[in-house]
Amino acid sequence: MDKNRILQDKRFVGIKAFEKKIWLSSPSMYKEEIFYVKEAIETNWVSTVGENINELEKMVAEYLGMKYSVALSCGTAALHMCMKLAAEQINPGAKPGNSLAGQKVFCSDMTFDASVNPVVYEGGEPIFIDTEVETWNMDPEALEKAFEMYPDVKLVVLAHLYGVPAKMDEIAAICKKHGALLIEDAAEAMGARYDGATVSGMCGSFGDYCAVSFNGNKIVTGSAGGMFVTNNKEDADKVRKWSTQSREAAPWYEHEELGYNYRMSNIIAGIARGNMLHIDEHIRLKKAIYERYKEGLKDLPITMNPFESKSSPNYWLSCLLIDEGAMCQQVRGEKDYLYVSEPGKSCPMEILDALSAFNAEGRPIWKPMHLQPIYRMNSFVTVEGNGRGRTNAYIKGSGVDVGADIFRRGLCLPSDNKMMPEQQDRIIEIIHGCFR
Ligand SMILES: Cc1ncc(COP(=O)(O)O)c(C=O)c1O
Repeated sequence: MDKNRILQDKRFVGIKAFEKKIWLSSPSMYKEEIFYVKEAIETNWVSTVGENINELEKMVAEYLGMKYSVALSCGTAALHMCMKLAAEQINPGAKPGNSLAGQKVFCSDMTFDASVNPVVYEGGEPIFIDTEVETWNMDPEALEKAFEMYPDVKLVVLAHLYGVPAKMDEIAAICKKHGALLIEDAAEAMGARYDGATVSGMCGSFGDYCAVSFNGNKIVTGSAGGMFVTNNKEDADKVRKWSTQSREAAPWYEHEELGYNYRMSNIIAGIARGNMLHIDEHIRLKKAIYERYKEGLKDLPITMNPFESKSSPNYWLSCLLIDEGAMCQQVRGEKDYLYVSEPGKSCPMEILDALSAFNAEGRPIWKPMHLQPIYRMNSFVTVEGNGRGRTNAYIKGSGVDVGADIFRRGLCLPSDNKMMPEQQDRIIEIIHGCFR
């Protein structure tokens, strides 16, 4: 990207670069975080036990309408614990580190790889399920197809993308029908709610095992951190034990099971505890950002990330999708990209380059897992069945691949809740410039 060329492009004339960077989604800190961290330091409770951890666990469980939660070092650790618990049910007696051996696991395809990697930590084989256009989450129809193809599968890992709840009515019914356990990755969806005809509740309350994240860019942050959430006391107790090196009740360090150093520190918990007090305000601010984009971009050939009526998203990231007819040529390799600007058209990489030149941070949509080099040999299932090998030199078309299409035409917009309306107006102007 040639920043100066973009800044001097006549399509952006009169638009000034931001002096201070506009972030995609940065942490917002308040006096409560300072209070709880200071208190932990002053009372010398800085390790992995203390009041902040206890209170945060209570707050999160209550907020999600769940009985138990266990504070961990990150959302990925929480997902790893979910895998181990699920493996105990579907693969009893299997070895830790290989507890999902021989198990295929249906996983959201368009997500961050942290949703999926813990399957592999435990020796399982992710099978990727395509995305639907209404919420950008796992497509229930493709999931049903996957059960037709692989009827023995006993575990589903579902992520709610960008704070938009998945179609939980249908997903929960399909898992139940096939006797499969559901792991819910609510890392991006803390505070989002789904109210369907058959199930309703907060994201992070639907799965047999649930995980949330307090990573630095999430809607509530501890600077890092995650939480395992459940209604099952025995599971919560196991995660407490496993995450603190699986110590037995002996005067010395006695171990019968493999342990992990996954517990949250009381300092991190102090930040998350203070930040949790602001979750509703954060959702309100994120929603206002989304609505401002929707209004400001309504004359362009784009749609915003669709927010299904059955749900109340947390609006974590505002995203847009360019209409097919308004896409300029864009080619993306494994690491490089190229596009050809065209009047009246644009593409995600052109918009991201323009935002970056003006000192604002956007982000491509999560590249679907079935397109990732690491997972290129894993199966991929769409509404048509097998999503691999659908091209043919002699027949036009390449089959349905919703995730690849959203990745190709979509992007995440700067969604920082500290962005001022005037700054957002400038971002909207830059995006208009790209389509000039
Ligand atoms: C969908 C999704 N799953 C899992 C994670 C992992 O959370 P953490 O970074 O806390 O490990 C993240 C974010 O980082 C995420 O966006």
